Amino acid sequence: MVRGAVLLLLWLAGAEMLREEQVERSGFCSWKCMKFVQMWPASFCVALGPRFDCVVPESADSWTIHGLWPSSVMNCCSCWHLFPSDLMDLPKQLAQHWPTFLNASNFKFWKEEWQKHGTCAGCMEALSSPSKYFGAALDLRTTYNIDGAFQRAGILPSCNHSYQLQTLREALVPILGKEHQLQCVTDGQARQILVQLKVSLFSNFSAGCLEEEARDFSPYRPCENQRRIFYFPPNQKNPRDPCP
Ligand SMILES: *[C@@H]1O[C@H](CO)[C@@H](O)[C@H](O)[C@H]1NC(C)=O
Ligand SMILES: *[C@@H]1O[C@H](CO)[C@@H](O)[C@H](O)[C@H]1NC(C)=O
Ligand SMILES: *[C@@H]1O[C@H](CO)[C@@H](O)[C@H](O)[C@H]1NC(C)=O
Repeated sequence: MVRGAVLLLLWLAGAEMLREEQVERSGFCSWKCMKFVQMWPASFCVALGPRFDCVVPESADSWTIHGLWPSSVMNCCSCWHLFPSDLMDLPKQLAQHWPTFLNASNFKFWKEEWQKHGTCAGCMEALSSPSKYFGAALDLRTTYNIDGAFQRAGILPSCNHSYQLQTLREALVPILGKEHQLQCVTDGQARQILVQLKVSLFSNFSAGCLEEEARDFSPYRPCENQRRIFYFPPNQKNPRDPCP
């Protein structure tokens, strides 16, 4: 009995060592590309389940950040906690450009993004601390400015005008290149609505990194070419159905 328990312990210790070795070999730092993901706040609540509260702040009238995600790695270090003081002077900019819409604290959202994705980004010097990671995402939002690209192309939010996928893509090519993905949801009136944009970056932040698409568990799907796409204006009073 005792001998069995000892053997079991030895076996468990061995399995643990093997697991650590595998993680090291597969490498948290093996990622080549990262996804920079921006959301269109006006559409966020359309696909949100009824279990969640939804609040879109007045200030969210332009594209906001969802995250900066090194590819094929997640939750790289549970021991690296994020504290408000880690973000120094960023909270004001983050509240404006990286807010949550779940009627929860922004810091909780940032902490989850840090835990899941930020802890994996630190293999690169430019992202090796919370203030560098969150600051880099804010800079990327300026570099890959969707609001500006759409405005220059005359693509404006509207309840009663829809766009072809190709029109939207052509407006974005000058800033994002061809390797980007527009994501949509379908609303209660079977309209296809633009909600999110993903661009795949090299570790030097240039766009165009090619990789296999990982499985996506979100309700967002690549916008379909055959259907018109709506780009709804924000409606803080009725965020779940901005254009009834
Ligand atoms: C947001 O949360 C507060 C406090 O829990 C609650 O009183 C309020 O009704 C919520 N708002 C929405 C829109 O769900
Ligand atoms: C609907 O379209 C008209 C132009 O045809 C425009 O003036 C109006 O602002 C649009 N309404 C909304 C809510 O987008
Ligand atoms: C970024 O890295 C990629 C891949 O290594 C390279 O092709 C590209 O030229 C680099 N961009 C810049 C601006 O250095």
